[in-house]
Amino acid sequence: MTWGWWLVTLFGWTGLQELPALFTEAEQREIDRLSPLPKAPVDETNRFADDPAAARLGQYLFFDPRFSANGEISCATCHDPALGFADGQSLGEGLEVLPRHTPSIWNSAYSRWLFWDGRTDSLWSQAMRPMESAVEMGGHRLQFFQLLQNDAALREAYQQVVGDLPTLEVPAENLGDWAARWETMDPSDQSQVTEVFVNLAKCIAAYERRLVSRNSVFDRFVEGFRRGHKAALSSLSPAAQRGLKTFVGRGNCTLCHHGPTLSDGEFHDIRVPDGDGGEPTDSGRFGGVPTLLADEFNARGPYSDDTGGKAARRLKFLVNSPENWGTFKTPSLRNVARTAPYMHQGQFSTLREVVEYYSTLESARPPGHHGGEQILVPLFLSDEEIDDLVAFLESLTDEEIDPLLRKGPSSPLFIE
Ligand code: HEC
Ligand code: HEC
Repeated sequence: MTWGWWLVTLFGWTGLQELPALFTEAEQREIDRLSPLPKAPVDETNRFADDPAAARLGQYLFFDPRFSANGEISCATCHDPALGFADGQSLGEGLEVLPRHTPSIWNSAYSRWLFWDGRTDSLWSQAMRPMESAVEMGGHRLQFFQLLQNDAALREAYQQVVGDLPTLEVPAENLGDWAARWETMDPSDQSQVTEVFVNLAKCIAAYERRLVSRNSVFDRFVEGFRRGHKAALSSLSPAAQRGLKTFVGRGNCTLCHHGPTLSDGEFHDIRVPDGDGGEPTDSGRFGGVPTLLADEFNARGPYSDDTGGKAARRLKFLVNSPENWGTFKTPSLRNVARTAPYMHQGQFSTLREVVEYYSTLESARPPGHHGGEQILVPLFLSDEEIDDLVAFLESLTDEEIDPLLRKGPSSPLFIE
């Protein structure tokens, strides 16, 4: 190889003069909007959202299996830090197998709507669901209350964040299971217990808000792009750069995967075939909207810390329509290479399969099913273009956080 060749390989391809040649101006503007990931939006519905003591207690709860019916399931069972805060399976599995795939919770603080169908509108109201769901953790808020009563460290941590645990008597065991015992309680005692449950969930949310990834190879590339740093530019491989061009260009991926999470946070029907091959039965957003509007734990409900704020106002304008049938939340693509399988039922096992789907739309359900969207058209990508797009998606990986955030802390107490 001649010296000239070396120079071209080292500097030429990623040389500044050549970048504009690779990306059109429109593509460059689109790229500019994908990074950096700003600070997570404030959550005014949760007064503990950015309280470090709350995050510590929440982290402890996230990894604590005692908050389940059989003492074996915690949030981390399904949202395992070693598996991209997901579970590596097609369908989630707790006390029973669930109808949907476990999404990663990386960067979930940026979501306006939570769950594939958006049936909750805050991280804290989301966290309450699996804890009491009979098919996930199967616990009961009264059980959680008693756990705090009987565990000095948890009680002290709760006191540190919220204040004293209310003094009330948990009905005796001979009255039946948790639900039966709950029925024997005064409404005022019940609401105090519910309040404690809400506060625990707000602490879990404070922990989840810390799971943010903003320093991927792609982010460094965009930074370099902006500032003209050659070294940063060459961090993104030529294949990934070409994939990026498809992503923001003719692939039209940024129609839905736009902004710094690479998701619009909204709901679409990309016509992925149902996991079991039959007619789809999951109504997605169509079922999520009424559930959210009726939820006493939503942003305008009595447990929210900001019932007149931005999140509450969003609900005012939320209306359901038949077009919502079968639409699912656009997932963020940050760390997507670590969270296979993909889609709301884990229908695809690799990123390549996902991209091949977008390329051919082979096996896609017919457009217009239940009035669904017709945005997608087959892209007819070459093998190399598919590889490039996968290389780009892989460049969105950054799992580096404080290693202490990846496991259950030995104590729920926060020490400065
Ligand atoms: C049994 C497995 C399981 C357990 C346990 C579990 N999850 Fe999940 N999680 C899921 C599945 C499956 C979904 C998607 C369900 C849906 O959309 O209907 C989900 C969705 C979520 C989401 C929404 C992400 C998004 O982008 O919309 C968050 C956040 C989350 N879980 C956090 C938690 C927390 C916090 C706990 C513990 C309190 C927990 N999960 C316990 C399986 C689980
Ligand atoms: C019309 C909106 C839309 C467009 C355009 C779009 N996506 Fe998606 N994407 C979605 C939605 C919605 C899902 C989840 C669908 C589901 O689970 O049924 C998704 C899922 C994915 C997933 C799986 C993520 C996960 O965690 O499960 C990847 C990867 C992905 N899209 C990449 C792309 C790429 C690459 C392109 C361009 C070729 C693209 N998307 C174009 C809306 C879109």
